[in-house]
Amino acid sequence: MAGKGGKVGPGRRAARVGRPGHAGDAKLRRVTTARLGEMKARGEKIAMLTAYDFSFARILDGAGLDVLLVGDSASNVVHGHETSVPITLDQMIDHAAAVVRGVERALIVVDLPFGTYQGNSQLALESAVRIMKEAGAHSVKMEGGDVIIDSVRRVLSAGIPVMGHLGLTPQSIYKFGSYTVRATKQEEAEQLMRDALLLQETGCFALVLEKIPARLAARVAKRLTIPVIGIGAGSQVDGQVLVTHDMLGLNKEFSPRFLRRYAELHEVMSEAFGRYLADVKAGRFPSAEESY
Ligand code: KIV
Repeated sequence: MAGKGGKVGPGRRAARVGRPGHAGDAKLRRVTTARLGEMKARGEKIAMLTAYDFSFARILDGAGLDVLLVGDSASNVVHGHETSVPITLDQMIDHAAAVVRGVERALIVVDLPFGTYQGNSQLALESAVRIMKEAGAHSVKMEGGDVIIDSVRRVLSAGIPVMGHLGLTPQSIYKFGSYTVRATKQEEAEQLMRDALLLQETGCFALVLEKIPARLAARVAKRLTIPVIGIGAGSQVDGQVLVTHDMLGLNKEFSPRFLRRYAELHEVMSEAFGRYLADVKAGRFPSAEESY
């Protein structure tokens, strides 16, 4: 596809060289799993957002985000499913490959989707290897604690970095039946702490905690030496993650308490689409200057 100004893909990529913080910048230093550990050690917060395509990845990376998560939330916000369950490994690989092409600095983490690692460590290894080889990703994320530990261990044994994910684990939505706050009872909180320690011991480089009480998340972050990234887990953790489409206000209906909207893009986009529609209908677009 021809780009603006007649440039094709590689030309667009070349045009990025020289942008502050990007290729051609001697100061550019890739974010690695080791660097995230160093950030935790010196108390520097980690900023992570989701990305599912090239254009968003390029903007997010240029803005300086430390970690881009190719989340299986793509199932909801890109593909329009009610849950994250239906998205396939092939779809995740397509999203991840596009994100990889847009990133020069951030660490890229890719969700292993539902059904590609639970209860089968050989399958887990094969799924993770596909993500690394076919998409060129840097690491994977898996939901769960002791019940998936064989799969985590097997993936790690291949040298693939793994990020854990505890608390609200959307792939198990049909087991729990709701998206309410997790680990509010003592027994569940104790199990979460045991799972967090187990994931660290097994070799995970970081852990996501989703929708749990802030005090519990703070205790986990204090106890672990690996970075703990929260979503709906309060401020006393080592970093934060949100779904990019949600924090940009693309979806007006989704407004849980933990979500801060940094833009109201639904309004901005609707207004732009409306103006375009009116211009086309009235024959105001294109103008003579916009014609060849
Ligand atoms: O899929 C996703 O976007 C996630 C985040 C909510 C952590 O797993």
